[in-house]
Amino acid sequence: MKLMFLGFIGILMLSTSNNASASPWFCKGLECPKFNLLNKTKDYEVRQYGSLTWVTTSHIGQWKSDILGELLFKNLFSYIEGNNTMKKQLDLAVPLLTKLESAGDRGSIYTMHLLIPRENIDHLPSPLNTNLTFITIPPSTYYIRSFDGVAYDRQYMKVLQELVNAINDTGAYPDDFFYTATYDHPQVKENRHNEVWLLKKEKIP
Ligand SMILES: *[C@@H]1O[C@H](CO)[C@@H](O)[C@H](O)[C@H]1NC(C)=O
Ligand SMILES: *[C@@H]1O[C@H](CO)[C@@H](O)[C@H](O)[C@H]1NC(C)=O
Ligand SMILES: *[C@@H]1O[C@H](CO)[C@@H](O)[C@H](O)[C@H]1NC(C)=O
Ligand SMILES: *[C@@H]1O[C@H](CO)[C@@H](O)[C@H](O)[C@H]1NC(C)=O
Repeated sequence: MKLMFLGFIGILMLSTSNNASASPWFCKGLECPKFNLLNKTKDYEVRQYGSLTWVTTSHIGQWKSDILGELLFKNLFSYIEGNNTMKKQLDLAVPLLTKLESAGDRGSIYTMHLLIPRENIDHLPSPLNTNLTFITIPPSTYYIRSFDGVAYDRQYMKVLQELVNAINDTGAYPDDFFYTATYDHPQVKENRHNEVWLLKKEKIP
């Protein structure tokens, strides 16, 4: 009886560790969205994500990710820490997505997106900070190139260029914006995971 019981626990533990491995290692235990891996080359992955809801804030100007990023993140983080109409705390989910969009003479539109955990989507508290807005990105497919180490603007631009070269088809994605995705706190130095995303255009039949 005792042995059977132990065996049962063993099975339970196995199945939990299987569940944990269903989430990619780079999410490090935080909630992160599921995706279908449509293709994988040595240079990039093609991932299909479902509809995702984000709390976002934007800045227009020159791209200075380290300084600006900290400021924008503080505002978003304050929202999930309870600075909202319901004083509700939300779990931190990853990735932290930043959209870089060309704004002509004005520089770039820099929009930081913090993922809303699935369980909160239907009862979203409103932000107290009027500079925050919700965005739902419909199901989309992306070309994604990953890299490790600390990521500053320079690294993201380099990896973006590598991704563009590897895709080798300027018609495959819109060329006026891209995303950076990060999964780690800026102070984490070890075992970091960063990504550059280009939206995959749907083929017009
Ligand atoms: C995956 O990508 C390679 C390289 O671009 C391409 O040759 C192949 O057809 C792709 N496979 C699928 C299923 O899209
Ligand atoms: C909202 O953004 C504007 C322009 O960047 C800024 O001046 C203002 O202080 C921000 N408001 C809050 C509540 O953060
Ligand atoms: C909550 O948001 C309001 C409005 O943006 C801001 O004035 C206040 O400083 C925020 N509180 C915290 C603790 O961040
Ligand atoms: C890129 O595409 C062009 C035209 O489609 C092709 O001629 C060239 O060999 C490709 N380059 C690489 C590195 O695959």
